[in-house]
Amino acid sequence: RPRVLSGIQPTAGSFHLGNYLGAVRQWVALQESHDAFYMVVDLHAITVPQDPAELRANTRLAVAQLLAAGLDPERCTLFVQSHVPEHAQLGWVMNCLTGFGEASRMTQFKDKSAKQGADRATVGLFTYPVLQVADILLYQANQVPVGEDQRQHIELTRDLAERFNGRYGQTFTVPAPYILKETAKIFDLQDPAVKMSKSASTPKGLINLLDDPKATAKKVKSAVTDTDTVIRFDEEKKPGVSNLLTILSTLSGSPVEDLERSYEGKGYGALKTDLAEAMVEFVTPFRVRTQEYLDDPETLDSILAKGAEKARAVAAETLAQTYDRMGFLPAK
Ligand code: TYM
Repeated sequence: RPRVLSGIQPTAGSFHLGNYLGAVRQWVALQESHDAFYMVVDLHAITVPQDPAELRANTRLAVAQLLAAGLDPERCTLFVQSHVPEHAQLGWVMNCLTGFGEASRMTQFKDKSAKQGADRATVGLFTYPVLQVADILLYQANQVPVGEDQRQHIELTRDLAERFNGRYGQTFTVPAPYILKETAKIFDLQDPAVKMSKSASTPKGLINLLDDPKATAKKVKSAVTDTDTVIRFDEEKKPGVSNLLTILSTLSGSPVEDLERSYEGKGYGALKTDLAEAMVEFVTPFRVRTQEYLDDPETLDSILAKGAEKARAVAAETLAQTYDRMGFLPAK
């Protein structure tokens, strides 16, 4: 079985619709066909200031949401990044392989640091993508299921894997991005020119999966469309409508072309009503299941303990091989 690895930040509390459609949904599918490793990346979270109690609560909440979304600890390895110390260790090695200019070209860093102001951005935020490289290479992952905004980080991972292999001999699998075209980028419901995200979206444009389903339905119904009336998929001319079609298509399983046909002669109101209904149908049980996992911290902890143990077995082997290749003296 080919291996996949991916991660999600615990910082935001509720996952948003972009996280789910762009990434987590694929994780659930891939656990059936792949040797799958999924983690909550708390080490990445501290690249911006975190309140300790909140970070702890949000890490549990992220795990609960992943389980509620359908990850099955019998079918995949689910763990918390800081439970596997090898991430930080290989991260350091990768830092020493990355050019300063190379790291400076990462667009997510440029965006985030511009927002925070150069003085407040940490060195951790700067080397964030390099830690992500270590995350992926530790598990010798063949594919990395993510949204479009992570593509550049996977490219960096490929470059560093090839660089290390070239310099020290074949050590790392060179991973490929696994990005589904349809859902690679889910857009803000109020501003379909920007991706849906906690930091950039307006509250009305951002669908949090754990919000009151009624509020979610309302947001869908007030989504920005255009002054035309035809329901047609056209990302350039009709970005708002296209985004709604993408979301409905994914949630309902109907291809976009079928939806276009079924809405012929109907207005945007009909599309929004159906999408609102599909969203409510999805988020209502999701919220209930998330709460059930949160209410049972012992089960949750034991899932994470097993996950960390399985993850560590793989990570430790890769790290040991890496250290050996680089010429570190073995501890006797
Ligand atoms: P994060 O936590 O920001 O997002 C988690 C996943 O959600 C995807 N995503 C989207 N997909 C489509 N449309 C959107 N609007 C949208 N917003 C977010 C992201 O692409 C991501 O797949 N750096 C990563 C976490 C990470 C990681 C890794 C991922 C750390 N180590 C190793 C893969 C492999 C991040 O911040 O994701």
